[in-house]
Amino acid sequence: MPKNRSQSFTTIPNHIAIIMDGNGRWAKAHMLPRMAGHRAGTENLRQIIKACIEFGVKHLTIYAFSTENWKRQQDEVDGLMDIFADVLEKELPELHAQGVQVRHLGREQELSPILREKLQNAIDATRDNQNLVLSIALNYGGRDEIITAIKNILKEEIPVEKIDEKIVADHLYTAGLPDPDLVIRTSGEMRTSNFLVWQSTYSEWYFTTILWPDFDKEKLREAIIDYGNRSRRFGGRTKKEKEEAYNG
Ligand code: FPP
Repeated sequence: MPKNRSQSFTTIPNHIAIIMDGNGRWAKAHMLPRMAGHRAGTENLRQIIKACIEFGVKHLTIYAFSTENWKRQQDEVDGLMDIFADVLEKELPELHAQGVQVRHLGREQELSPILREKLQNAIDATRDNQNLVLSIALNYGGRDEIITAIKNILKEEIPVEKIDEKIVADHLYTAGLPDPDLVIRTSGEMRTSNFLVWQSTYSEWYFTTILWPDFDKEKLREAIIDYGNRSRRFGGRTKKEKEEAYNG
């Protein structure tokens, strides 16, 4: 086996975003409580972060908790919030050592003071890291993000004629981040579920029936290879298609 198998990729996506779905079904399949599925999903995230660094992916965005997830049973919501706070504290030294920069996408208002503090601490401690930007979408909703951007644009009294895609993008939680090249959703659901509504317009989507806790490094490799076999047009034509059209 070659020492660095990432050499076999034709194209590495600069930015991968993941809807980590299927923790509950994984737990059910293993006859375990739902929280065990979320813990297994958390454990899996560690290897996916490592794999992204190894493969040369520069941005990883994960959908940890949506603005709609508050509707889940209170004990599950509380359990998830505990996991987030715990992970942000316990994993911080390891994330920092790996050169991971932590960012938060989403509303802070509804998060507990302790979680906000841990989130801010992780962001501050890793601000200068360059190996991988890990954006955690937590209490995030794509529509909420756009509404918040509109409100801020109005508050800043930006003249109507100046409002363009850049102004809007600069007011989203993702300001300064590149758009995702590849968005992965695990567990067989084929919906976008309010994730990166603005940013994923031209992303390649990859849907797999694998449940998130089982989506390991090799599955990630398969997704990246699949991505590499696609031709992205961004609404136009690929260079090859243009040449073929020109040559008649
Ligand atoms: C969906 O599974 C997953 C979530 C609600 C996200 C939780 C993600 C983690 C715990 C991973 C760790 C993240 C961080 C930031 C530490 P589901 O409950 O919707 O599964 P189901 O559809 O099978 O019920």
